[in-house]
Amino acid sequence: MQRKIEVGILGATGMVGQSFIKFLQGHPWFELTWLGASDRSAGKKYRDAAQWHLGGETPANVADLVVQESKPGNAPKLVFSAMDASVATEIEQAFASAGHAVVSNSKNHRMDPDVPLLIPEINPDHLKLIPLQQAKRGWKGMIVTNPNCTTAVLAMALAPLKPFGITKIVMTSMQAISGAGYPGVPSMDIVANVIPYIGGEEEKVQQEPQKILGSFDGAQVTPLPAKLSAHCNRVPVVDGHTETISVELSAKPSETDLLAAFQNFSGVPQERRLPSAPPHPIIYMSQVNRPQPRKDVERERGMTVFVGRLRRCPVLDYKFVAMGHNTVRGAAGAAVLNAELMVSEGLLD
Ligand SMILES: NC(=O)c1ccc[n+]([C@@H]2O[C@H](COP(=O)([O-])OP(=O)(O)OC[C@H]3O[C@@H](n4cnc5c(N)ncnc54)[C@H](OP(=O)(O)O)[C@@H]3O)[C@@H](O)[C@H]2O)c1
Repeated sequence: MQRKIEVGILGATGMVGQSFIKFLQGHPWFELTWLGASDRSAGKKYRDAAQWHLGGETPANVADLVVQESKPGNAPKLVFSAMDASVATEIEQAFASAGHAVVSNSKNHRMDPDVPLLIPEINPDHLKLIPLQQAKRGWKGMIVTNPNCTTAVLAMALAPLKPFGITKIVMTSMQAISGAGYPGVPSMDIVANVIPYIGGEEEKVQQEPQKILGSFDGAQVTPLPAKLSAHCNRVPVVDGHTETISVELSAKPSETDLLAAFQNFSGVPQERRLPSAPPHPIIYMSQVNRPQPRKDVERERGMTVFVGRLRRCPVLDYKFVAMGHNTVRGAAGAAVLNAELMVSEGLLD
């Protein structure tokens, strides 16, 4: 790429906003030049507006940038969104209407029928919704979303199994506290404890994977017709969501077929060597006690989903464990990979 593409972040002062700033450090295609947040932060230098939570000092490339109001106008064409869900609907729409490409991490537009809910290894063809979205809404810009962090890990682990006909899924999550933002869950609640409830999480996880794994016929996405039951739990882990998954598969494949499907899984980001694409989007670990968040979550820049413990399930057909980085593959890294795919498709020309 001759010249880097300028990018901005809406919600730049929050936890996910900070993950974006960290993930974009040294990006070969994108240069971060614009930061937006609420009126509470606008007008202040980033170092004064945001308390940096991710280790080390506030990165030098953003420390002296002045935070802007979240209004379209002087922002770059490509903006990542990590805004509070209470305000994301209207602000993201205003940016898309004004011609910006909004690559959002917020839940607000994920299930809109004309908005791609994208994981580039799984459903790159869903980007073909964009012309329909623009025609329907009269937008010059666009909104593209990435899934909830728990969905991201689950959908990645299920994608290699789609050719075997997924009909039922039962998933139990052990979710890291970083997924709750900052300050997040009170320490008195989470230290040495498990909280068997995360507000709104099971509802999101029970519908997003079917849209991602669904098929696009040129006009709409038909969700994968699979039943999904999710149990979502918060556990005292800093980063990395672990999920135990049981599946029913209509083709009744052998264990060898499934292992090969996990090991050979790859997609458009790997073919095109997109900058944030991990060489292997899924790594199958054969050790009986892996993956583990503390040992594996930072590998491959947090962009790989680790799978292990594949075995027969006496209730459904097979069961296994999956683990991925919730603020990278489940948030900032996911959105940056989405933007890279959009660039490679010419959507930002
Ligand atoms: N945490 C995760 O792992 C995770 C994962 C996936 C998705 N998400 C989603 O990502 C979004 C951000 O999550 P978070 O944990 O980063 O939240 P957060 O730390 O509370 O940050 C929220 C951000 O929204 C901004 N904001 C609030 N009100 C605003 C307004 N009226 N106008 C413009 N900006 C406003 C805040 O700016 P100020 O600092 O100026 O208030 C801040 O930058 C949420 O929608 C969340 O559901 C989070």
